[in-house]
Amino acid sequence: QSNAMWGGRFAKGPAAIMEEINASIGFDKKLYAQDIAGSKAHATMLAAKGIITEADRDQILKGLDTVLEEIESGRFEFSRKLEDIHMNVEARLAALIGPAAGRLHTARSRNDQVALDFRLWVKAEMEKTAQAIDALILAFLDRAEEHADTVMPGFTHLQTAQPVTFGHHCMAYVEMFARDKARVLHAIEHLDESPIGAAALAGTGFPIDRHMTAAALGFAGPTRNSIDTVSDRDFALEFLSIAAISATHLSRLAEEIVIWSTPQFGFIRLSDAFSTGSSIMPQKKNPDAAELVRAKTGRINGSLIALLTVMKGLPLAYSKDMQEDKEQVFDAAESLELALAAMTGMVRDLTVNADRMRAAAGSGFSTATDLADWLVREAGLPFRDAHHVTGRAVAAAEAKGVALEALSLDELKAIHPDITDAVFSVLSVDASVASRTSFGGTAPAQVRQQIAWWRTRLAG
Ligand code: ARG
Repeated sequence: QSNAMWGGRFAKGPAAIMEEINASIGFDKKLYAQDIAGSKAHATMLAAKGIITEADRDQILKGLDTVLEEIESGRFEFSRKLEDIHMNVEARLAALIGPAAGRLHTARSRNDQVALDFRLWVKAEMEKTAQAIDALILAFLDRAEEHADTVMPGFTHLQTAQPVTFGHHCMAYVEMFARDKARVLHAIEHLDESPIGAAALAGTGFPIDRHMTAAALGFAGPTRNSIDTVSDRDFALEFLSIAAISATHLSRLAEEIVIWSTPQFGFIRLSDAFSTGSSIMPQKKNPDAAELVRAKTGRINGSLIALLTVMKGLPLAYSKDMQEDKEQVFDAAESLELALAAMTGMVRDLTVNADRMRAAAGSGFSTATDLADWLVREAGLPFRDAHHVTGRAVAAAEAKGVALEALSLDELKAIHPDITDAVFSVLSVDASVASRTSFGGTAPAQVRQQIAWWRTRLAG
């Protein structure tokens, strides 16, 4: 038989394959709470405006509470024949309260209904994302504080560049994740308009009050264009874009964790709680959580591209293509949540091998820039000349197989006569790090200042 909700003009029901391709209940049942909240706000407004009676409203509200309770207790039977969450809820309401249920859809379409439900869901998800990012930032701030003086090599091209501190490196991630959080908060502001009342696409002739439903649902106000309202999925694309950027940050961090936890680097040890063993090699301790965080980026990027592609050719207003928006967002949201939580745990629990970091920081002539800077400051050389002289010192040390500071004063003087004993004080990794006092630099005092700045910002 044909569909009870829209089957009036249909002589027969859908082909089995039609039902299969058309149904979204398998995934959009996640929207049940938003759908019911939206319906309650709508029914309340309809009664307030005299569009339905107060008696009908009371039955609808009570019936919707029962539906909610049935779904949350797992007693609700979802039906694929009813396509989606909207019709599943409404059909059950009709079974519970009879004809009054049929009045709920006055001045409403599934087009504005789904736009509302999905917006509410994405909004709540982004609020969760902001909190999850905060937890990661706090974990990093603690590690940065502990390790404001822990010297490690800083890299460019993954080649030893200059000594930095582990605290400073941690704070680089604080900056990245704080930007991600700011993007999330901004996106929440963007989507903070209520779609309900746009109806199918043109609005409605019923004297509805969209400001009232907007306020009841916690939005700043109603959307201003009914066509845009049922066509727009920017809010989902924005969430996915932000998720992709944040996943990229997580992935770079995951990659560093993978590298640093190798025996060859040995900078950090992951806690057993975030590692796995090998079924054949007894000695192994693998950074699987970091690898999976790195891999989740692929899924999240895929979701962004998938939805961009779904939307790119769609004429206004609603097209059923848009039903494909949800799985991408749900999957990306789940992946990001997992990745953020796993990363927060890893950062909190990892142990730092400060000796290994320090030893590595001193290798690879990492203080060569300090020698060049000293020649500029103390011997008055132009930086380019100082760079050249230092390059010769590095070559001499390399030929001898020793560190820069292990060259004798005579050897250094042979390279440039103005070099004095005082140069040795700048060649240690600690002196190098301590000297980088420029704003945002790696000197421990600077790093502590940045930690304090972020702590007050997060508290406020
Ligand atoms: N399940 C649909 C979706 O997710 C709901 C909107 C259906 N609207 C319609 N006119 N068929 O987009």
